[in-house]
Amino acid sequence: MKYFIRTYGCQMNHSDSERIAGVLELANYEKSTKEDEADLIVINMCSVRESAVSRISGNFHKYKNYKKKNPNFKTVITGCILPSDKDRFDKLFDLIIDIKEIEKLPERLKKDYFKSDSKVQNPSITQESPAKAENNTINDYFSINPQHNSKITAYVPIMTGCNNFCSYCVVPYTRGREKSRSVDEILNEVRNLVKNGYREIILLGQNVNSYKPNENTDFPKLLQLINDIPGDFWIKFLTSHPKDISEELIKTIAQCEKCTECIHLALQSGDNEILEKMNRKYTSEHFLALIKMIRKIISDVAITTDIIVGFPGETEEQFQNTAEIMKKVKFDMVYINKYSPRSGTVSAKMNDDVSWEEKKKREDFLNIILEKNALENNQEYIGKTIDVLIEKIDKDYAYGKTRSFKNVKIFHFCHPELVEEISKKKDAMKIGEFAKIKITQANAWGLEGKIIE
Ligand code: SAH
Ligand code: SF4
Ligand code: F3S
Repeated sequence: MKYFIRTYGCQMNHSDSERIAGVLELANYEKSTKEDEADLIVINMCSVRESAVSRISGNFHKYKNYKKKNPNFKTVITGCILPSDKDRFDKLFDLIIDIKEIEKLPERLKKDYFKSDSKVQNPSITQESPAKAENNTINDYFSINPQHNSKITAYVPIMTGCNNFCSYCVVPYTRGREKSRSVDEILNEVRNLVKNGYREIILLGQNVNSYKPNENTDFPKLLQLINDIPGDFWIKFLTSHPKDISEELIKTIAQCEKCTECIHLALQSGDNEILEKMNRKYTSEHFLALIKMIRKIISDVAITTDIIVGFPGETEEQFQNTAEIMKKVKFDMVYINKYSPRSGTVSAKMNDDVSWEEKKKREDFLNIILEKNALENNQEYIGKTIDVLIEKIDKDYAYGKTRSFKNVKIFHFCHPELVEEISKKKDAMKIGEFAKIKITQANAWGLEGKIIE
């Protein structure tokens, strides 16, 4: 039996899909690279912006045809699903399953096959030995062994859910309340990854600063423990809420040599009235003070953010407050989102009175500021020699990432003017290893450089 997973949404969902693959492979499913060759399609859903139903309705037509050709064909939906979409999905899919119970997927599929006639035709599903089933039992979503997509970078979830209830956001409704994963489990997973050659560990949570598995442990403590694991690797994390960032955390990042110099801190709006309506629990002044503290303690830090334009009632003046704070902070990257009301959230009851055209105009306006700032920040790298994690090498170039999450394109030995100089050094660059790269050029979205000895 072959499976294909279609993932929507943030890194959390991409990480969860690696765990879904882990569960399925343990149950002897094989990965299919093509959707139309799979017997099982798993949709890992995101509901944060668009309507989840309209997002996948195009696919549904296709799946009906697959079903006609393949009687064993099944569709499953999981991930972040709004309670109000559940009934609809229940009718459209063979199975709807909570991501926190994803370890039960093979068992639930078996039950589903027992219900239908097609199942009897499928011995690989019905005749599994009880002993094997026992060995393969997974009891908790976090303890599932993931099938990582990369051999270099691994996402490691440290918590799930959110208690913040920002007025526009579905996450507390789709993922439930915060649940922190045990320190031992996280440390074991990271140790194994490092042993297997992983160079970049990205810790994931909707709000990693709320990580609190017990009275004695918090996020800075966890960072220190991971930093103490021997090996040559980087630690990154996503995402932090401005109301919870502490000086202790910033100092920990600065002191832990494996923690890299990048922080994603979602601003959402630069206007205090809008921030209050969003239930963000901080002011623009607090945000600016945080940025000042971060830049003082961590040198050469890259700061990225999320912004929502066109929140209900956002006036031109309020929008300009966001533009102003963007100019002041000079973010390295900004993910700009046009507001859309999501069913069940508090802001869905507010009047969505900024037109889509106006939202688009505001988005474009912020993108121009972003491009200018990002270019200026990247130009600071020119002439510097920095560590780059090599991710890909092709005929002409190598590609990698800096500690600060910037993409680097590296001139390779095929360049005529560099043949002699670089052919000596070609062995210095290997996929999955760090290399010292001298930055020669920069644009808003990345850097260019060459290898040095
Ligand atoms: N926990 C993260 C955010 C996760 S959701 C944090 O607080 O940093 C990712 C992003 O989607 C949010 O930061 C926000 O900018 C955007 N978003 C969430 N709900 C939205 C909505 N209803 N309309 C538009 N953008 C939204
Ligand atoms: Fe959503 Fe706010 Fe939680 Fe982020 S902190 S997931 S924006 S409710
Ligand atoms: Fe979407 Fe869920 Fe992430 S709603 S943004 S996939 S946490």
